[in-house]
Amino acid sequence: MDMKIALVPGDGIGPDIVREAVRVLDRVASAYGHSISYEEVDAGGISIDRYGIPLTEDALEKAKAADAVLLGAVGGPKWDGVPGPKRPEKGLLGLRSGLGLFCNFRPAVIYPELSAASPLKDSIITRGVDLLVVRELTGGIYFGERGRSDDGEEAYDTMRYSRGEIRRIAAKAFEAAMGRRRKVTLVDKANVLESSRLWRETVSELAASYPEVELDFMYVDNAAMQLVRDPSRFDVLLTENMFGDILSDEASMITGSIGMLSSASLREDSFGMYEPIHGSAPDIAGKDIANPIATILSAASMLRYSFSLEKEAAAIESAVKSALSDGIRTRDIAVEGEKTVGTVECGREIEGRIG
Ligand code: IPM
Ligand code: MG
Repeated sequence: MDMKIALVPGDGIGPDIVREAVRVLDRVASAYGHSISYEEVDAGGISIDRYGIPLTEDALEKAKAADAVLLGAVGGPKWDGVPGPKRPEKGLLGLRSGLGLFCNFRPAVIYPELSAASPLKDSIITRGVDLLVVRELTGGIYFGERGRSDDGEEAYDTMRYSRGEIRRIAAKAFEAAMGRRRKVTLVDKANVLESSRLWRETVSELAASYPEVELDFMYVDNAAMQLVRDPSRFDVLLTENMFGDILSDEASMITGSIGMLSSASLREDSFGMYEPIHGSAPDIAGKDIANPIATILSAASMLRYSFSLEKEAAAIESAVKSALSDGIRTRDIAVEGEKTVGTVECGREIEGRIG
């Protein structure tokens, strides 16, 4: 297969980790007889530095022209003074909305090898953690109207959802649940927010089309608590944009490190953007410290969702597992006394276990 991938390394550790994912992808391509061409695209702080804005038309067009996008991370304190509409994060949000990627899958799985790195007690962890956060990605408070009053004394952000937006993401969650443990938990704040009540109504209606899937509801504050009390109770967590942002960070830490979690941002066709859920960690950028695994696993998701290359995706995932069981640890997932490897060595160890 010929694959055309847009690479958006972005800022901070972005280039470090994307480089390792490319190393692994290239190995997969040669082992399985595929060809991959890459085109680099600027977004985030690097785009601000080069062109004065976080995402240019040209960058968005290049991303659109690819079959899939692999992104590192954007942002950093360097751009802290930049006003809201021009912040690096706008580059990422512009890609998500410009590419129509309304569906964000963030799986949190605990690797037995890393259970010592989880901040939760063994008695909780041994019940298992294998959950999928399905986050709505192009609506809600992230994209609603916002502003300040004329005197600058007040500010507002708006959370707004349409039934159509809710239905299409809910359908993705139900479909994902069908291939898993068939349970969807809708996380909302329906005791307070009208938009949440619309979510409950719409999702309940849609649930009738998925009779095999069990649906339950949970307020977001309770969900935040249940996630650390007993994460094994969750299969698919379906939620709006901002709740999903918050809960996916929490879910990731349960597994030991935010450096392990991948994400896939999808729409109705096979196009997708794949990125680790962590940020740009500017303090460790360029120092060969960052954990490339979340990005490498994101590349595996890309092969699975955008190219239907299940065997190849699984090869990456088992290479990661095998590296972990052989004790390969970047600093963030090592417990005291364990030997650690750098970003590049971690990438090479994984690459070497493919094909
Ligand atoms: C994420 C990040 C982004 C988000 C930021 C960088 C805009 O936190 O992908 O979770 O809030 O969606
Ligand atoms: Mg986040």
